Amino acid sequence: MAERTIDELCEQLLAKRKAAEEGGGKKAIDKQHEKGKLTARERIERLLDPGSFVEIDEFVEHRCSNFGLEKTKFLGDGVVTGYGTVDGRIVYVFSQDFTVMGGSLGEMHAKKICKVLDLALQNGCPVIGINDSGGARIQEAVDALSGYGSIFFRNVKASGVVPQISVIAGPCAGGAVYSPALTDFIFMVDKIGIMHITGPAVIKAVTGEDVTSEQIGGAMAHNTTSGVAQFFASNEDECFAQVRKLLSYLPSNNMEEAPIGDESDDPMRMEMSLREAVPTNPNKGYDVRDVIRKVVDHGDFFEVQPLWARNIVTGFARIGGRVIGVIANQANYMAGCLDIDASDKASRHIRICDAYNIPIVTFEDVPGYLPGLNQEMGGIIRHGAKLLYAYSEATAPKITVVLRKAYGGSYLGMCSKDLGADVVLAWPQAEIAVMGAEGAAKIIFRKEDPESLKKKTQEYIDNFATPYQAARHGLIEHVIEPKETRPMIIKALKMLENKKEDR
Ligand code: HXC
Repeated sequence: MAERTIDELCEQLLAKRKAAEEGGGKKAIDKQHEKGKLTARERIERLLDPGSFVEIDEFVEHRCSNFGLEKTKFLGDGVVTGYGTVDGRIVYVFSQDFTVMGGSLGEMHAKKICKVLDLALQNGCPVIGINDSGGARIQEAVDALSGYGSIFFRNVKASGVVPQISVIAGPCAGGAVYSPALTDFIFMVDKIGIMHITGPAVIKAVTGEDVTSEQIGGAMAHNTTSGVAQFFASNEDECFAQVRKLLSYLPSNNMEEAPIGDESDDPMRMEMSLREAVPTNPNKGYDVRDVIRKVVDHGDFFEVQPLWARNIVTGFARIGGRVIGVIANQANYMAGCLDIDASDKASRHIRICDAYNIPIVTFEDVPGYLPGLNQEMGGIIRHGAKLLYAYSEATAPKITVVLRKAYGGSYLGMCSKDLGADVVLAWPQAEIAVMGAEGAAKIIFRKEDPESLKKKTQEYIDNFATPYQAARHGLIEHVIEPKETRPMIIKALKMLENKKEDR
């Protein structure tokens, strides 16, 4: 037998690598580009720091022989997996390759994804999954389903331990949507990302409804209406930039701290313009994001789920260089009331912040819960309870700033002292009461004549529509001038730096 030279063996290796890198071949790659989509490898290149990607398992192949599948094999089996860095920090990644059998998921494809999930969990690093797949590889039958099950199981095991991020940059249908849904954040790319349990044809057959994929599963639908996705991107580059930005706010795992940012914004900065940021008239609207931007470092606020449940604002920022999670009632939208969607959105964000020990800063200006049959029958009681639960359960530092209204049950729901807020600050125009002053006075003084009612209402406003009643009872630590908000939050966070609470 002729001895093989090392040159020949290396050549063979390089040829195999080249074949793996070509995925489903030039024709399929062209088709992918024609659909306005990048390939699995191009996506990884754009997401990670240049040249940092290390691929693993590039020679894995499926071992299915049903329906002649043994004749259709591709190195890598339709998913590119490995690790690399984002801003110098290690992340794991998998990217489904639609050019190989439509990125469909079979036994070995799933095993590759499971391996990176296991590695991410073992090594305490975030994992990013780029989804572009026709779903369960039909020829592999139950082995494909089992593959999904193993992924779901690992998503749950890693939940709250390492950040998990899903990018939807192609179809994602059937039960396959549940892996992204089990992760912390879903990014969808407009026009190419689709997520649904059943497609238009099945819907037509079962319910008779005429719908398009975009309507039931597009990036806009899930960002504005269903609340399934947290981030909308117009194109893939924008999406990867958003993912990188999000990662900059998250620790690599639940035992580490989030990266400290640039500390050049003066921690003692007094922001005079905050005086005008919130009208003293409780019925006037304003954009609470302007308040947040004036308080946090360099006005940089990264909003999470900006297009859904807009009556509550959630996001990340830094203050004194340290990451905070922000929850704020949005007076400009439905007067900032709490409803089913706002409760779901806020409680999810609180739980994520708490999992990664990110301090939660709540800006409160809430008139109450949204009344109505839809809300009651939609289960506002059980959804609203999630918010109380999430705040009460959270052991991360919790700071509440009462900007203006804080009425009734919604006052409690926005992280009052009794739900475990470590520090509560209130602006001078704060009104902490069972309800708005006029409504309250009308009930208490209903038997008074109009002149006396007017006088008594004013007395009620002076005595109860203020922060001082709550301050007298120790339910607020500090009544502050608006300009003092930034330094006071920074001091409170410093004081809470070593907070430990074992439950
Ligand atoms: C095997 C598949 C596949 C699949 C696509 N392909 N989906 N092969 N199993 N699930 C193959 C196609 O046969 C084709 O092969 C190639 O991938 C590219 O697909 P096209 O149809 O040409 O692409 P496009 O026109 O862009 O349409 C994409 C698509 C469509 C909408 C995703 O392929 C499609 O409807 N696929 C089937 C989707 C599906 O029903 N999946 C099962 C869902 S149920 P060739 O050789 O022609 O290039 C599910 C359950 C999960 O996933 C449960 C988890 C618990």
